Amino acid sequence: MTTSFPQTPEFSGALYTPSRAEVDVFDLEVEGTLPTGINGTFYQVSPDPQYPPMLGHDIFFNGDGLVSAFFFDKGTVSLRRRYVQTDRLLAQRREGRSLNGIYRNIYTNDPKAAGSNTTANTTVQAYNGVLLAMKEDALPYALDLRTLETLGVHDFGGQILSQTFTAHPKVDPLTGNLLAFSYEAKGDGSPDLAYFELAPDGTLLHEIWFQAPYAAMVHDFAVTAHHVVFPLIPLTVDVARMKDGGQHFQWQPDLPQLFAVVPRQGSSRDVRWFKGPANGFQGHTLNAFEEDGLIHVDMPVTGGNIFYFFPQADGFVPSPETLSSQLMRWTFDLCADSDRVEPVALNDFPCEFPRCDDRYIGRPYEHGFVLAFDPQRPYNPANGPMPFQFFNLLTHINVRTGKSESWFAGDSECFQEPIFVPRSTDAGEGDGYVIALLNHLGNHTTELLVLDSFQMEAGPIARIKLPLRMRMSLHGCWSQAFPPQTRHLAEE
Ligand SMILES: [Fe+2]
Repeated sequence: MTTSFPQTPEFSGALYTPSRAEVDVFDLEVEGTLPTGINGTFYQVSPDPQYPPMLGHDIFFNGDGLVSAFFFDKGTVSLRRRYVQTDRLLAQRREGRSLNGIYRNIYTNDPKAAGSNTTANTTVQAYNGVLLAMKEDALPYALDLRTLETLGVHDFGGQILSQTFTAHPKVDPLTGNLLAFSYEAKGDGSPDLAYFELAPDGTLLHEIWFQAPYAAMVHDFAVTAHHVVFPLIPLTVDVARMKDGGQHFQWQPDLPQLFAVVPRQGSSRDVRWFKGPANGFQGHTLNAFEEDGLIHVDMPVTGGNIFYFFPQADGFVPSPETLSSQLMRWTFDLCADSDRVEPVALNDFPCEFPRCDDRYIGRPYEHGFVLAFDPQRPYNPANGPMPFQFFNLLTHINVRTGKSESWFAGDSECFQEPIFVPRSTDAGEGDGYVIALLNHLGNHTTELLVLDSFQMEAGPIARIKLPLRMRMSLHGCWSQAFPPQTRHLAEE
């Protein structure tokens, strides 16, 4: 190609310069001791644009989905990276340029763009023999768990009739069921939500369709043993605005943080709505559970709009340093008459990309793993301004005691979302390893780190050296669905 990526914060620097690299690297260099008990695959996905943006500018979330698989096998790790071969990516490659305009606004696309706008760039989840690559604007794509070959759009055998599907499904650890949902389920701007519960063999067990008072972003959700909770972020959707060339989402500071609480086995008649404070941004779910008749949902909450690229109607976006952010607990009492809910802080520092021990999803729990930011730690100004989503701490937090333990990697280092891997199948909650990518802003390199979950301050027990820089990513999963036989990478 002869066009260049713009030198904007979204496309430059150690975190955001596109990598565009599909690679196989057999037996990565390991510094330290990689426990031989870690066997399985760490899958994750990054928005990584194939071509410079058609409009000359774009947001991070609009990059093409590039999936990475780290195959852990008896003390070794190998890496495979492949783009999800979406209709959108294939159309771009045919034309040799980007064909897509404003984020999630098909009205601003080139006529030669694919009919589907999705990039499948937000998370990957192993399910029923395939790897699902997901973005919340469309159905998932299925990939081969080993080769990462794209198998096609996955509509669960025709059972899922929604136009969209979440990028934050959960697996019920007791049943193995996949719990998922859709918003804008009947198309752009529709206020329709749908909840789906699917058996491990792919069978749709139950679905609930209902309408919200307005169409708004529902990025993540929360599950407990008997309920699901949908947080509606005050980012609303207006198709007329989109047709005028505007943004899909607009921040509405007057709207509450809205929640729908729904019994998993219920129907649309059972939906209860709760309102939290206005002008707040509910982030990702750490975990949720039921106790003594109450439903608790733990998530980072920011006091204002953290998505600077989706301003409010008058164009205002708060500067990041003016926004407070904390891990909060929302408690819903279905017996209460009030529809008001106020979150209670679980810590006193900003954090995001929370993960729990997956064996405790929806159950009473205490251990969480998050990326955190401590503004008191040194930052090397030679790296330029702090990039979007800059996290200088990898932290274990105990939500029961409030205690936390962090590791600071240096004044030029930034973490990507961690995952937790149990030390053994019968290890206690939170006892195991925290695995996360670390970007070195100074020399544009990336490592995959393994830390002992109960000795975070000691730093990594193993550093897996990568021969390429990995762009900032979104989410991923740990899976033992595919037997770790990384030697196959060498035999192919
Ligand atoms: Fe997310």
